[in-house]
Amino acid sequence: MRLKDKVIFLSGGSTGIGLDCAKAYAAEGAKVVIVARHAAASADAAKSLGEGHLGFACDVSVGEQVEAAIAKTLEHFGRLDVIHNNAGIATPSKPLHETSEDEWDSLFNINLKSVFHTTRFGLEALKASKGCILNTSSLVGVMGQAIHAAYTATKGGMNTLTKSMALDYAPLGIRVNAVCPAGTWTPMLRTWCAEQPDPSSIERYLDEIHPLGYCPEGDVIADASVFLVSNEARFVTGHIMHVSGGAELGYRRPND
Ligand SMILES: NC(=O)c1ccc[n+]([C@@H]2O[C@H](COP(=O)([O-])OP(=O)(O)OC[C@H]3O[C@@H](n4cnc5c(N)ncnc54)[C@H](O)[C@@H]3O)[C@@H](O)[C@H]2O)c1
Repeated sequence: MRLKDKVIFLSGGSTGIGLDCAKAYAAEGAKVVIVARHAAASADAAKSLGEGHLGFACDVSVGEQVEAAIAKTLEHFGRLDVIHNNAGIATPSKPLHETSEDEWDSLFNINLKSVFHTTRFGLEALKASKGCILNTSSLVGVMGQAIHAAYTATKGGMNTLTKSMALDYAPLGIRVNAVCPAGTWTPMLRTWCAEQPDPSSIERYLDEIHPLGYCPEGDVIADASVFLVSNEARFVTGHIMHVSGGAELGYRRPND
């Protein structure tokens, strides 16, 4: 029970990586507040964790909705220990000059401005609990990626933001870290696969980009996230943790 009675505000917890994190947090004794795009999916996800969790809709790109969601969390639980900014979108798969202004704005508002909102409205509560913030970033925010310029920019921004926030909030006793998946099988990745030029070869490609030999499910990200928000990581801040099966390491294997 590494997270016993911790209250965790988790965005994008209705599916994919977020849902796996929610399950792992609940299994470690946390009370999880799942906010995501759709009300029913959020409520169902919270219900699937057992008694005592909350799930409701909140568009994390809209400041007023985030303010109301954090107020509801505090009203219900009376405290807040962790903000996990996990909600995100990855589409479109396009080079920058083909990306529309609306697509650029959606990516930045959902993936990055959301962190601004949760921090503005959640910081006082984290100060009181000496809590922490975890951001779900991406390895491509470190490495770059073809035909995903705007998406990678949101995650590169998130990585720098994580470090700057870690410095600003260290004096308050608030840690700020990021977890970077390479590929993880989720609804988002399945949508992404369907958009690629040769969807039929993509599963093999996704296995091969990870030197450990397979594209994982969200449990590997959830396990790393439990560590980063737990007391075991009490001296870890500003860390961009790659949970990537080594995808960022050197040249490809000789048989590739
Ligand atoms: N799946 C991967 O391979 C992969 C790789 C690297 C990084 N990531 C990152 O992991 C995170 C989760 O991705 P996933 O693959 O589980 O995605 P997913 O599409 O399966 O789930 C996304 C979640 O975010 C929520 N969401 C989307 N827009 C929202 C909004 N405006 N307001 C509130 N909630 C919103 C959805 O409701 C859903 O709960 C994202 O930040 C993504 O960029 C995923």
